[in-house]
Amino acid sequence: CGIVGIIGNTPVAPQIVEALKRLEYRGYDSAGVATLEYGRLARCRAEGKLRNLEAKLSQSPLSGHIGIGHTRWATHGKPNETNAHPHATDKLAVVHNGIIENFRELKAALEAKGVRFETETDTEVVAQLVTYEMRQGRPPVEAVAVTLPRLRGAFALAFLFNGEDEVLIGARHGAPLAIGYGADEMYLGSDALALAPFTDDITYLEDGDWAILRRKGADIRDASGAMVQRPRHKIPAGSFMADKGNHRHFMAKEIHEQPEVVGRTLAHYVNFSAGRVELPFELPFDFKDLKRISISACGTAYLAGLVSKYWFERLARIPVEIDVASEFRYREAPLEPGELALFVSQSGETADTLASLRYAAAEKLHTLSVVNVPTSTMARESAVVAQTLAGVEVGVASTKAFTCQLTVLLSLAIAAGRARGTLSAEEEKELVDALIAVPGQMSEAMKREHDIEILARELSKAKDVLYLGRGTAYPLAMEGALKLKEISYIHAEGYAAGELKHGPIALIDETMPVIVIAPFDHIFEKTVSNMQEVAARGGRIILITDEKGALETGLDTLATIVMPSVHPVVAPILNSVPIQLLAYHTAVFMGKDVDQPRNLAKSVTVE
Ligand code: G6P
Repeated sequence: CGIVGIIGNTPVAPQIVEALKRLEYRGYDSAGVATLEYGRLARCRAEGKLRNLEAKLSQSPLSGHIGIGHTRWATHGKPNETNAHPHATDKLAVVHNGIIENFRELKAALEAKGVRFETETDTEVVAQLVTYEMRQGRPPVEAVAVTLPRLRGAFALAFLFNGEDEVLIGARHGAPLAIGYGADEMYLGSDALALAPFTDDITYLEDGDWAILRRKGADIRDASGAMVQRPRHKIPAGSFMADKGNHRHFMAKEIHEQPEVVGRTLAHYVNFSAGRVELPFELPFDFKDLKRISISACGTAYLAGLVSKYWFERLARIPVEIDVASEFRYREAPLEPGELALFVSQSGETADTLASLRYAAAEKLHTLSVVNVPTSTMARESAVVAQTLAGVEVGVASTKAFTCQLTVLLSLAIAAGRARGTLSAEEEKELVDALIAVPGQMSEAMKREHDIEILARELSKAKDVLYLGRGTAYPLAMEGALKLKEISYIHAEGYAAGELKHGPIALIDETMPVIVIAPFDHIFEKTVSNMQEVAARGGRIILITDEKGALETGLDTLATIVMPSVHPVVAPILNSVPIQLLAYHTAVFMGKDVDQPRNLAKSVTVE
């Protein structure tokens, strides 16, 4: 979804729509604008494409010189006009990307004070919270200042106030937001691309920042409320599809986008207020009838599939077979018509995965593809398309597409568990709540970046690196090793921690770092024993765990990266962040071309 805000000197609605069009590539299914008409809030919203909004605006134009706009991907509420943004009260209008994790408790607190709600959305909770503060006599800026610290999650917001022609407020917390500077005009946009027709003079807000825009400029405050200065960038013309924002590389940008895109993907599969998964498509089969699922994919997408094997088997009790696609298509596995073949691909064009899809379809299996590019061949040829909403991924080494694949696959496994009666409504709600918390926890995990950067210098000296994990941390260990070898060219292997003693233990000495991924779960103790085997042989351990795990290991490590404590089922989504950052900073430190590593292609369309 996209956010735009303009404070100017001519009617802004047409400009807002123009900017929103530049964000169309992100996908959306309703849109809206709010402006001040002679000081009074007025809104126009429409279901469907921006042309519907334009048609409505041409019937009853908005002429205000200050306004906000939004394109929305339907989340739990239908993509209708009521649920479209901006959401408004008599005091303000607000647009929002991302997730307010604790919206249920905030809503309950407001309801207890007599506030009535019109929608089920988390966005309305923000609108009502700020409105409540304003009713207590606080001016807009102060009302926002006291509200922002109460919101948990990963989100971006823009506010417009009734009767306040001089103020627009934008806030960034885990989802991107940029400010544009014009001549006596100021802009807000969820990326610089949206603002390209108006200005090339951009400030990217940092996480936790919020900005008060007036026609003459912006005051930026950080999460503590202190005024801060952020750099202004001149965006070279023509660089837009390739906008790296504040980052040196696309890979860094894409790693940092994860709280937003995972949130966006999640919102497409989960009904937040009901605490249940709601798939945005019909299935031509019933999970209840499935005897097994066969998954095929390549590279990082294969490893997402491998994580999901644990989920489908544990949560839905469906046996899963998984192959790299180049093996599946030739090994002549016995297949039965009516079974489910599941494919995972960022590009939707990978030759081996596509060939496997065609092969499964010819064998009369149901085909379901988790793809990121909705116009791709695999999306066109699959019976069911489960889209990941990661947006365009430019870096050759996949990052945000991977965590979005995990998000979709876990949602599917939960839906399967419900259909098969292996998950109760309470268990489902617990898992959904754990998923809703992930984008916010990912933002939290990004705060370890500086420590990881220092550690990367150490890692860059290694010739070989071993990654270990058990359960869902095992495929993640393989993904960590894959990321590192792809972009730093350091040889790395991912191994099941329990398998260490059957071979790789022979390699352990003080020159080979061993990266252990061990969230505090039911097999944590087992992984600790394997770490002891490494330590006893002089191996140097880098441990990725959570707060509880860090307390419990009792082992000397070279370094411990402490993640927020999360539900063990969602831990692989969160733990993707440190393994990506570690590979990224190691490669950058070594001076490698991280976005275009040698010999690799983003999309491999040959066998
Ligand atoms: C290439 C890319 C990998 C990717 C794999 C599968 O090897 O370099 O990053 O994981 O293809 O691509 P897909 O588009 O099918 O996910």
